[in-house]
Amino acid sequence: MSTEAARWDERYTEHPDLFGAAPAWMCERLAELPPASPVLDVGAGQGRVSLAAARLGHIVTAVDLSPVAIDGLRDAATSEGLAIETHVADAVVWLQEARTRSWGVALLQSVSTGSSVSDRALFALLRQHCDGILAEVIERVIPADLVRESWPNAHIERAIAKLPVLRITG
Ligand SMILES: C[S@@+](CC[C@H](N)C(=O)[O-])C[C@H]1O[C@@H](n2cnc3c(N)ncnc32)[C@H](O)[C@@H]1O
Repeated sequence: MSTEAARWDERYTEHPDLFGAAPAWMCERLAELPPASPVLDVGAGQGRVSLAAARLGHIVTAVDLSPVAIDGLRDAATSEGLAIETHVADAVVWLQEARTRSWGVALLQSVSTGSSVSDRALFALLRQHCDGILAEVIERVIPADLVRESWPNAHIERAIAKLPVLRITG
């Protein structure tokens, strides 16, 4: 297991609801998608965004490095009777192997791989596999220019949260 996965496992084991409810902005955008949209939640964590999407009737695939996070997500989905496809994996590696799979929308909530090279690869792969993107990322971690390299037409709105964030729709 990678150091990053072990670090997240530890945090999620200590806090079964580490990030609380799904952010309102993301929920509002999810509600605007066509019914039963196929969505890919990248770095899904304990699944607050995946669960919000599945409750709205979207078809959700969730990927995260952390086995503890994905276990929690699966348990929560099962207890609500929601079907969510889950994978414990590095999203960059997993998407490279995803071949012809495609999704309507990629979802990223507060996610970075920890390296700008991998973040750039991740956004490029999402562009290949997904028609659209909904993302809320920390601006100093994933700058707008990096997003625009793969998603030149994305709408990027700067929003001040606890940390300045970029809200990306495209
Ligand atoms: C700040 S948390 C956000 C979790 C979730 N999106 C949310 O908003 O609740 C970041 C998550 O990204 C995951 N992550 C980081 N790098 C990843 C990668 N390369 N592939 C898959 N997941 C990754 C971590 O394991 C962690 O669960």
